[in-house]
Amino acid sequence: MSSFPHKHLLGLEDYSADDILKILDTAESMKEILARPIRKVPTLRGVTVVNLFFESSTRTRISFELAEKRLSADTVNFSSSGSSLSKGETLLDTARNIEAMKIDIVVIRHRAAGAPHFLAHHLEAVIVNAGDGCHEHPTQALLDVLTLRQKFGSVKGLRVTVVGDIAHSRVALSNIHALKKLGATVAICGPATLIPRDVAGLGVGVVYSIDDAIAQSDVLNVLRIQLERQEAGLFPTLREYQKYFGVTRTRLEKAQRPLTILHPGPINRGIEITSDVADSEHSLILDQVTNGVAVRMAVLYLLSGAKQ
Ligand code: CP
Repeated sequence: MSSFPHKHLLGLEDYSADDILKILDTAESMKEILARPIRKVPTLRGVTVVNLFFESSTRTRISFELAEKRLSADTVNFSSSGSSLSKGETLLDTARNIEAMKIDIVVIRHRAAGAPHFLAHHLEAVIVNAGDGCHEHPTQALLDVLTLRQKFGSVKGLRVTVVGDIAHSRVALSNIHALKKLGATVAICGPATLIPRDVAGLGVGVVYSIDDAIAQSDVLNVLRIQLERQEAGLFPTLREYQKYFGVTRTRLEKAQRPLTILHPGPINRGIEITSDVADSEHSLILDQVTNGVAVRMAVLYLLSGAKQ
């Protein structure tokens, strides 16, 4: 079993560059397993993992489940609809029931920032954050940096701008932590109302014009406008957002050099990004999804080792 200096993955703020590189290197080994005719190893045989999804998910949920199955873990899936949460059960009682069922690893997505930390405080199990409110989405950022490392060889020195709804984005914060620790130059871009006031303290540049962001970047990580988390009045209309901040081919062509495009999904086509950009040869969006399985295998493997 590997040695890894963390019991949980609650966020990337507390992970060092070495920790992140260890996950990326392990994910490369996992990619080799995924390229074999039989894509399964017995590494987590006897380990029970529960996927607790209190918010909807396609990519994260499927890729965690696939990662667990590829590593031969026993997996249980939980979604809040149809569970006893609808009868008023608290997160703490849900946690206590998990403890009683001898679960080894809990993967949790929750609308409340800090929900994974709460479980880590109350449970013996390993906790993996699959997205907590507007706080962190660490495995998304890990797969983003893995995807960039595969294309560029290293993230160090890359100029990456995260574009869009920064205020509501857990992907943005985890990306900022991961990219800065690996030596990238990071900026954020969006309407002032969607930029948190204290973000400059994280050591990132702030750009309010998408054209300026394009002019100064190698990579745009374009975020989804989170329609379900918007309060009234943060921007006038989606049409206006698209007009001033939408990433379009016309805008990108002005740079006269190709920019690499990431998007964590799900995509609002025609709002934060046009289809011709999302589907272009410079888009790594589906590579991100492919890398999600390997990254989550790496995280589960390393944390299960820490638990021994
Ligand atoms: N990127 C991401 O978290 O997608 P899902 O919400 O589909 O899991």
